[in-house]
Amino acid sequence: MVNIIGAGLAGLSAAIALAKENIQSSLISVQASERAQSVMAEGGTNGALNTMGEGDTVEDHFNDTFKAGVFIGDRKAIEGFTRTAPDILRELIDLGVPFNIKGETVQQRSFGGQKKKRTAYARSSTGKVLMSALIDEARRYEAQGLIHRFSHHEFTDVLISEGVCRGAAVKDLYTGLEMIFEGPVIMACGGFNGMFPEVTTGTVGNSGSAAARLFSRGVKFSNLEMIQYHPTTMKIPGKCCLVSEAARGEGGRLFVMRGGERWYFMEEKYPELGNLMPRDVVARESYFVTHDESCEDQVWLDMHHLSAGTWKVKLPDLREEVKHYLGIDPAKDPIPVSPGIHYFMGGIDVDIGHRTNIAGLLAAGECCSQYHGANRLGGNSTMGAMYGGRIAAGTAAALLKSKEDTGFENGAARDIFKNPEKEDTAENDQSGKRGAPKADYGFILRLRDIMLPALGIVREEETMKDALSKVRALLNEEGLNESERERGIFACAVLESALFRKESRGAHYRSDYPETSDEYKGNTTAEFDGSIRIGFYKTNESYI
Ligand code: FUM
Repeated sequence: MVNIIGAGLAGLSAAIALAKENIQSSLISVQASERAQSVMAEGGTNGALNTMGEGDTVEDHFNDTFKAGVFIGDRKAIEGFTRTAPDILRELIDLGVPFNIKGETVQQRSFGGQKKKRTAYARSSTGKVLMSALIDEARRYEAQGLIHRFSHHEFTDVLISEGVCRGAAVKDLYTGLEMIFEGPVIMACGGFNGMFPEVTTGTVGNSGSAAARLFSRGVKFSNLEMIQYHPTTMKIPGKCCLVSEAARGEGGRLFVMRGGERWYFMEEKYPELGNLMPRDVVARESYFVTHDESCEDQVWLDMHHLSAGTWKVKLPDLREEVKHYLGIDPAKDPIPVSPGIHYFMGGIDVDIGHRTNIAGLLAAGECCSQYHGANRLGGNSTMGAMYGGRIAAGTAAALLKSKEDTGFENGAARDIFKNPEKEDTAENDQSGKRGAPKADYGFILRLRDIMLPALGIVREEETMKDALSKVRALLNEEGLNESERERGIFACAVLESALFRKESRGAHYRSDYPETSDEYKGNTTAEFDGSIRIGFYKTNESYI
C-alpha cells in the first residue's frame, strides 16, 4: 500500500501508475479530486507533439524549460519529463480528453517562453478536462480495489522513525477519527497558496500547513525563494483571478498609458517573444512600467482584435469569466490586469526518482522542487505533475519490492486503520500534538502582510531582513499553537533562502543584486533541526 497525500493531477497520476502495477494506494485529500487546484489550470499542457508543423522537438522543449528556469532546474529530470511528455499527451488523447482539435489533429498553442506551439489545450479550461479524465480512470481502478479514495481526510503528520518514513497520520474531517496509514508516502499536496490568501490565483485549500509540518520534521526543501507571479490576473474581492496566458498566446497585447498614448511595452522591449516572454520577465516589466513616473499605474490587456472564431472556439470561457467578474467584454475593450502569486517553483527537495531526504517519503507536483528552476513555463505544471506522479509511483513501487531497505511489506493491502484511542501510537507520535488546532486565519493574514512586501516581484535586503525580524518577533508571542509556530518557522526559511541568494535569477529579482551570478547557479536548501539551516548545491552541470 502506498499513501498519496493530495488528489490533484500528481496524486491521481501516481495512484493510476501504481494501480497499473497492481499496487494499491490510498488517495488522501482534504477536498475531493473534483475540487483540487489542478481543476483550475487553464491554458494548457506542454509536450512536443509537433502537431502544428513547426518542427517542434523534445530538445526544444528541454531547452525552453531549462532556459526559462534560468539554468538551475534539474537537467536530468527535465530531460525525462520533456522526453515523456508527448507520450503522456498521446495517452490523454486515447483516454478521450477533449483537447481542441482541427480535423483530427490536436491543436497546440503558443505559450510564454516557448518558441514553438507546444501547449495542448481545451479552450481555457484544460485543468478541468484533464482532471475529469484522470478521475474517471481512477474510478475504474477504485472498482478493482486498487485505489482507495479518502476525500475529506487531512494529512496531519509524517511518521518517521530511524530516519525512515513509516507512514502518515491522517484525520477524518467528518468524524474526527485519527488514523495511521502505514507504508511509503507520496506528498502531492500542491503549493503554499494558503500562505498568501487574497493575493494568489491558487486555492487557499493548499494551505501550506503540510509543508510547514514536514519542514519541522526535518524534511529538506529547496529554492523556497522562487515564487512565481503570473503577469495577468484580475483583482476581485478576496482573490486574484487568473486571466490565462492563453489570452496572450492567442494574440492578446499588454499596454500601459504613457503620455496619453498606449505603450505596448513588451513588444517594444522584447521584439522576438513580446507579450510571450517568460512570466518572470513579463511580471517584472509590468512592475517597472507601473512604477515609472512617465506611465500610468495600470497595465491593460488588449484582446479586441482577436477573431470571432478565436473567441468562439479557443477562449469562450475566458471571455465569459472576464465579463462575469469585471463586467467588461474583452472582445471589445481592454481589461485591467496585474501580477498575482501563482506558483511555487521551490518546495520539497527531491532527486530524479522524486525521493526526499527521508527514505520512504516521496513528493511530486507543485509541492516539490524539481523541473522548474527559478521560473516555470506556463503549461509545464500540469505536465510536470502528471509525469512526476508517475515517477514517484515507480520509486514507491520499487521501495515496496526492496523490503530490506525500508521494512515495508510487499504491495499487499495492509491494516491501515488504527484508532489512536485504541492503539499505542506514542512511539510514532513525535509531537504529541497531532490534530492540534489549525492556524488562526488572523495569524495567517498577519504573516502574509509581513511576507508580501519582502517577497514581491522586486526584492531587497533591507525589506527581507525587516520581514524576518517581524516573523521572529511573531514567533516569540505567547499563545501560538503548533500550526502557527510551524508556519512562522517555515516563513523564516522562505525569507532566509531569499536573503541567501544574493543575485537576481528568474522569479527572484533583487534590486540590490540585479545581475545573475554564476556563484549562485544552483539551488538553495532549507532544513530544520531546531534551527533553520540554509545550504546550497550547484545544478548538475555534467548531464547532456
Ligand atoms: O495562464 C495559464 O493558463 C496558466 C497556466 C499555467 O500556469 O501552467
